[in-house]
Amino acid sequence: MTDHQHTSPVSQATTRYAGEELPFSERDSAHIPGHWLLARLGKRVLRPGGRELTRQMLSHAGIEGHKVVEFAPGLGSTAKEILQHTPASYVGVDEDRKAAAIVDNIVAGTGHAVTAKAQETGLPDDSADVVVGEAMLTMQSDKGKQSIIAEAARLLRPGGRYAIHELGLEPDNLDDETKTLIRKSLARAIKVNARPLTAAEWKALLESEGFEVDWIGSAPMALLDIRRNVADEGIVGVLRILRNLIRDKQARERVMTMKRAFTQYRQHMNGIAVVAHKR
Ligand SMILES: C[S@@+](CC[C@H](N)C(=O)[O-])C[C@H]1O[C@@H](n2cnc3c(N)ncnc32)[C@H](O)[C@@H]1O
Repeated sequence: MTDHQHTSPVSQATTRYAGEELPFSERDSAHIPGHWLLARLGKRVLRPGGRELTRQMLSHAGIEGHKVVEFAPGLGSTAKEILQHTPASYVGVDEDRKAAAIVDNIVAGTGHAVTAKAQETGLPDDSADVVVGEAMLTMQSDKGKQSIIAEAARLLRPGGRYAIHELGLEPDNLDDETKTLIRKSLARAIKVNARPLTAAEWKALLESEGFEVDWIGSAPMALLDIRRNVADEGIVGVLRILRNLIRDKQARERVMTMKRAFTQYRQHMNGIAVVAHKR
């Protein structure tokens, strides 16, 4: 018996993508990290500001003809967008072996993907013109965030650009008590310790590791809104997600809990993207 046969119907329906097995295929819907649950349901855009904010960010990152490293490419949806900007080369760095294999297939011809942590990529100093990372710093502690940003700085040549797209908090003077409530609610819902920051905090963090911020964009945190999903996944993609949700009660309950957490703190959360250059 394979691992798949122990899992719920939805995971049997969508355990493969781009010729590879999806990460966490064997975990049940009640315990899987939120982003992999959504991926298993058929969602491909797994970042808070959606595809449109990604596109704005990439247009400010100056990719054409440059060497790009992407941290945590996940299912390779941004990797595809990056390729459309015709980079000189592309290297994806994902800590999950299955995700790296999916991305490796997607970028074949222009680049490749490696299995490694963004904190310690093993790539050479000054080997990139642009580093891109989405929906991966938020789930780190302050120290973890710092070490990933320091690794981006090590990989980039002076003047090279670092583009991030993460979960933001607003306003900049949001009180600590509300921040803690948001973190606890997110941890319960997505089963990952998410620690979003305000725009001022993201900026200060990047500056502390030797970057200068050139552009900041934002979009509502609408990861589970129907209109955002039609824009990000297309009508066929949304129908696939809904069909999978109907078949999996545990997944439905998880998604409703996530949606409640996102809605409750909607006015204080956003998707934030920043492009900064290495001084
Ligand atoms: C929420 S998804 C983000 C995927 C993609 N960037 C997107 O926006 O759709 C998380 C992905 O980040 C990867 N990841 C998380 N932390 C990482 C780290 N420290 N180093 C490398 N990959 C990481 C996971 O393996 C997974 O593929």
